[in-house]
Amino acid sequence: MCCKPNYQRVGLLERYKEFLPITDKTPALSLMEGSTPLIPLTKISAKISPNITLYAKFEGMNPTGSFKDRGMVMAIANAVEIGSKAVICASTGNTAASAAAYSARAGLTCGVILPAGEVALGKVSQSMMHGAKVIAIDGNFDDALTIVKEITQKYPITMVNSLNPYRIEGQKTGAFEICDTLGEAPTYHAIPVGNAGNITAYWKGYKEYFEKGIIDRLPKMIGFQAAGSAPIVEGHPILEPNTIATAIRIGNPASWKKAEAARDESMGLIEKVTDEEITEAQKLLASTEGVFCEPASAASVAGVIKKAKEGFFKEKCSIVCILTGHGLKDPQRAMAICDPFINAKNDLDEVAKILNLK
Ligand code: F0G
Repeated sequence: MCCKPNYQRVGLLERYKEFLPITDKTPALSLMEGSTPLIPLTKISAKISPNITLYAKFEGMNPTGSFKDRGMVMAIANAVEIGSKAVICASTGNTAASAAAYSARAGLTCGVILPAGEVALGKVSQSMMHGAKVIAIDGNFDDALTIVKEITQKYPITMVNSLNPYRIEGQKTGAFEICDTLGEAPTYHAIPVGNAGNITAYWKGYKEYFEKGIIDRLPKMIGFQAAGSAPIVEGHPILEPNTIATAIRIGNPASWKKAEAARDESMGLIEKVTDEEITEAQKLLASTEGVFCEPASAASVAGVIKKAKEGFFKEKCSIVCILTGHGLKDPQRAMAICDPFINAKNDLDEVAKILNLK
């Protein structure tokens, strides 16, 4: 008997090569990214509505702990193919970590521009460990992206932010995996929105599967921004975006128009959730489902909970929430929102007492 294909043993460029811009010269770059689990969220769906079958696509299970690896493997492979020696990105942390890891593997020099003091600890440590040149500017993500756009016009260095179309190509594979697992598209696709590359990429992926006849319906795209950083919802750039979800602290998304197109073509929505709603969803996921995601990721679940309370999901439906990054990316935030741990003497009786065992 022959074994079934094990997708965890091939990376994305191999798994979805016929859908990707791959040529004879594209290097076979991989850290075994993709093929992330689609986890049923039975506790949360039971709590919010009997109509909803809820899933989390846990992108924190990618090699650097976020969805960025899908697009980065494609962008770095292309950079090698076109002969680049160096790449650069602006980042709230995850793009940087991913760019740094794939650059290390591919032998490229990597520069990352971060907003000083606004990037979660785990992400900065990854960029440093992978040997990127880490530059923290005295400005926000939008300022960092402006520098990257200008520097890549002037100097021979390749941008690997999601304005690079190869990033979007790689990231669209998330939509393929969801459909391959469910055998169809979900009714709703819930996703956090920051710079808006991911909602753009997922919508592209679903449309490609639909056009090829692999799925026979498209999902409604429901995107969620953090209330203090919700330019698309407010209809204008936010000069000083603010939220505890630092990954999506972005005031002027690069793919703004494409996110609106995904929303409108799919008859979906883009709304905002508060930091409190995000924190509550993050805790609920960790404490009742066993899934630890970072704050920005929990915006997708927070949004679904909010819309369910409003009675938005009237009929039986399936919803996939994208959990974009792992909770370990931002341990400081996690510690801050939990009860403190208990210090005790090195003594069995005392420990038993604390555990209510005696
Ligand atoms: N969730 C996480 C964990 C992210 O890191 C990001 C973006 C998003 C959601 C939003 O995705 O920008 O495609 O709409 N992080 C970027 C970065 C900006 O630099 O790592 P988006």
